[in-house]
Amino acid sequence: MEDSSGLPPLRGPATVKGMLAGKVAIITGASRGIGAAAATAFAQAGAKVVLAARDEEALRRVADGIDGTGSVAVSVPTDVTDPRSVEKLVEFALEKFHRLDLAFNNAGGGHMPAPLAELDVEQFDQALGANARGTFLSMKYEIPAMLKTGGGSIVNMSSTAGLQGVNGIAGYVAGKHAVIGLTKAAAMDYAKKNVRVNAVAPGPILTERTVGVISPDQAMFAVPVGRIGNREEVAAVAVWLCSDLSSFVTGAVVPVDGGRLAGVSFSRPGVTPAVTPSISDQRKPSKVRENRW
Ligand SMILES: NC(=O)c1ccc[n+]([C@@H]2O[C@H](COP(=O)([O-])OP(=O)(O)OC[C@H]3O[C@@H](n4cnc5c(N)ncnc54)[C@H](OP(=O)(O)O)[C@@H]3O)[C@@H](O)[C@H]2O)c1
Repeated sequence: MEDSSGLPPLRGPATVKGMLAGKVAIITGASRGIGAAAATAFAQAGAKVVLAARDEEALRRVADGIDGTGSVAVSVPTDVTDPRSVEKLVEFALEKFHRLDLAFNNAGGGHMPAPLAELDVEQFDQALGANARGTFLSMKYEIPAMLKTGGGSIVNMSSTAGLQGVNGIAGYVAGKHAVIGLTKAAAMDYAKKNVRVNAVAPGPILTERTVGVISPDQAMFAVPVGRIGNREEVAAVAVWLCSDLSSFVTGAVVPVDGGRLAGVSFSRPGVTPAVTPSISDQRKPSKVRENRW
């Protein structure tokens, strides 16, 4: 029923149940960590999921786990830095499901920490390859596939290190900044063709890669909410960005960081700092300063 404002009626509360029903999604980097959690979340939201990563065994285990719950998941061993491999991944999705609606380009990785001038050229190239080249190649083949059936939604994996500098990981920082640039450029190129492109910028998140690296003390120091994030908390944002609930959002970068990028935290008389200990406390142990996400 239309009210006196002349606006169309409200469509009722948004619900996550079935929010990706009928959609086909590619998720890269799905063999473990955030990607494996996203594979499960996309499937629970009703999507058929095509899982990609290099580790064939691990990928199959994730797909089998999802299949066991009655959802549809297939695994396609893929190296996102190899154009032919990514092209085959997208071809597989089209052959199997006849459409591609969604992609979470999550594959990526870092390198051993070193000051920029001491960073091996190979390690720099590797970080750019996994993050920037991999994201470019994924979108290069996904977008034409999505256009065949009227459009789609893509979420690229950046990091808080894609929005600010972090000491000791110049290659990773450059790669994750590049992911944001690619996201915005693609969003502009395809806005009128019904392909939305957004990025998430998480950190720090507890995964196989970070377990034992980021202690609860570090999280208390670095994250305003005082804890490290969970894989599912990133997956949920990726599901939302892929869903029609975010239909007017494109070219955006969404931090999933417990408030880490919101600002700096100082000790002031009578005011509790958002992070503990305060960054104004110069006595913090040096390892605490060496954050790697
Ligand atoms: N954990 C965090 O705190 C955090 C914070 C911000 C951003 N991120 C980003 O989130 C993503 C997932 O992180 P995570 O912590 O879950 O890391 P992870 O456990 O190391 O997972 C990385 C995933 O990417 C895949 N991958 C890496 N290189 C690939 C390639 N060339 N081709 C295909 N797949 C490749 C890996 O699979 P294979 O080895 O089987 O290929 C794996 O599935 C990464 O892009 C990471 O940079 C993580």
